[in-house]
Amino acid sequence: MKQPAPDIAPLLEVDNVTIRYETATQEVIAAEDVSFSVYPSDRFVLLGPSGCGKSTLLKSIGGYIAPSEGEIRLGGKRIREPGPDRVFVFQEFDQLLPWMTVSENLCFALSNGKRCSSQKEAREIAERYLQKVNLWKFRNAYPHTLSGGMKQRAAIARGLAMQPSILLMDEPFAALDALTRQQMQDELLALWEETKFTVIFVTHSIDEGIVLGSRILILTPHPGRVRAELNAHELDRSQAVAPLFANTRDRIYSMLFDTKLNAGAAS
Ligand SMILES: Nc1ncnc2c1ncn2[C@@H]1O[C@H](COP(=O)(O)OP(=O)(O)OP(=O)(O)O)[C@@H](O)[C@H]1O
Ligand SMILES: [Mg+2]
Repeated sequence: MKQPAPDIAPLLEVDNVTIRYETATQEVIAAEDVSFSVYPSDRFVLLGPSGCGKSTLLKSIGGYIAPSEGEIRLGGKRIREPGPDRVFVFQEFDQLLPWMTVSENLCFALSNGKRCSSQKEAREIAERYLQKVNLWKFRNAYPHTLSGGMKQRAAIARGLAMQPSILLMDEPFAALDALTRQQMQDELLALWEETKFTVIFVTHSIDEGIVLGSRILILTPHPGRVRAELNAHELDRSQAVAPLFANTRDRIYSMLFDTKLNAGAAS
């Protein structure tokens, strides 16, 4: 994918956003003065160490937490509440309603999110998206009978079936074994090739960020501030052993942990 031309309007703008949590005993700054723009069809990766505010930023984009300072706009309109135009996929395997079949889970989201006017339409869309993620055979299965990877596929199918303006993925593959994780990354990219949906993908895996992302925003350790933004359009798994991939990985690592800075300070 080419870099967005400058005259394309951003889909999402995070504008000088600071988010603080007030607890009974202290104030925690989760993210500080964060700005970035996401363009249509971006695979935008938020990468940073644990506790740097990635989930908090995503929840704020979802409309669940209001920024303490700054604002977030979707299509030019300030985000003030959750809506079906922003759909989450989380790390946890229990995102599906356990008393509903896989297909019913999708239909429920489609009807509740007002994406469909009739049950028939919801079923048709659900089945189409379950086919896309190779779960059609399991459409009548209950979630507890599925593997972790299959549950994540179902959650992704549900998210995409809603046709949100932006899909918000918070470490969706972090709890999977390494082989399934790699497979799911490739499947997500194949799905993206089909419809070019816009996604923000949170991870603390550098390699996952490089393989999946078209752009990568690197956040500092807590409190999260923008450290850098990189393009990763040119890099995919086929270049995983190429020097550019290794260089990018090293650069990101040193930016995340300021290794060169620390080495200099120590000498
Ligand atoms: N509900 C809350 N109340 C108070 N503090 C919170 C709350 N949620 C998160 N925090 C704090 O905000 C900071 C950022 O948390 P957040 O969960 O956004 O980080 P993260 O980057 O998603 O971390 P991880 O990679 O471990 O998921 C942390 O210091 C955390 O303790
Ligand atoms: Mg998190």
